[in-house]
Amino acid sequence: MVYRSPGELDAPLSPPSLPRPQRVVLTTPQHFDVEYVINPHMADNVGSVDRSAATQQWKALRAAYTALDVSPLVVDGRPGLPDMVFCANQTLPFYDPTTDRRGVVLSRMHAEERAGEVPHYAEFFRTLDYAVETLPDDLEGSFEGMGDALWHPGRFLLWGGHGFRTAPAVYDAISALLDVPILLLELKDPDYYHLDTCLCPLNEDTVLIAPAAFDETGRALIREGFDTVIEAPDGEARHQFACNAHCPDGTHVLIQEGCDGTIERLREHGFVPVELDTGEFLKAGGSVFCLKQMIW
Ligand code: ARG
Repeated sequence: MVYRSPGELDAPLSPPSLPRPQRVVLTTPQHFDVEYVINPHMADNVGSVDRSAATQQWKALRAAYTALDVSPLVVDGRPGLPDMVFCANQTLPFYDPTTDRRGVVLSRMHAEERAGEVPHYAEFFRTLDYAVETLPDDLEGSFEGMGDALWHPGRFLLWGGHGFRTAPAVYDAISALLDVPILLLELKDPDYYHLDTCLCPLNEDTVLIAPAAFDETGRALIREGFDTVIEAPDGEARHQFACNAHCPDGTHVLIQEGCDGTIERLREHGFVPVELDTGEFLKAGGSVFCLKQMIW
């Protein structure tokens, strides 16, 4: 149930439907900073975060979700964990509509500096009565949650990125654990180190991508999975994280401000862009999508 190319799909995939997650988790930025370099975007930014600007930007993000009727659940950031604010990375939330079971698969962070974030999220999800699952002990390799594993909107189907942060073998384990089909995409360019930096599923039929992040096999698999593929201009995707946008409801797209080419293309396809300044978080290599976690 793990597919790497269109040729491996013997029949068109028809996974069962899955309701959109309705709740959003955000983590407070009071300890956010760039203290080390674990992706190319962080280089030259150590010590450069303006914490009060970051707090204002985070509050505007929270307000944008509230305005869309998605009321945020807030986790407190912890001292010594400057990337904890990127709450998409420590877990993969799941929901099984047939059994009404909610849970998360815990990540295994690639960088030692981020390992300490995961137990705080395990604790948080336990307080929500979520099942907290771990990858098998005898399986090697890291996994960075919804940095790399993205739900296809409206479908019980995952897209799995690998190449920089997540090991491909992890997806065999996740597919078995959740009984879910997974379409694998190899990431080819270090600026696009997580799948959520270059692939943004908007609704069941439409995706926004940064084509340069993938090879031809990956792009073909994406075209197989979505009727409409919107391409972001490479400069906007690479430097302004245009594809690290988030469409919580199939219509509105929360996106870094100034991604003008991308925004125009989104409008042409009937989406309603909501521009936000995430400039302080771009210094760490993240924007809207990785600053939130959607849960059921
Ligand atoms: N500094 C963080 C890291 O490199 C940023 C994570 C951003 N998250 C994301 N899903 N792209 O791990």
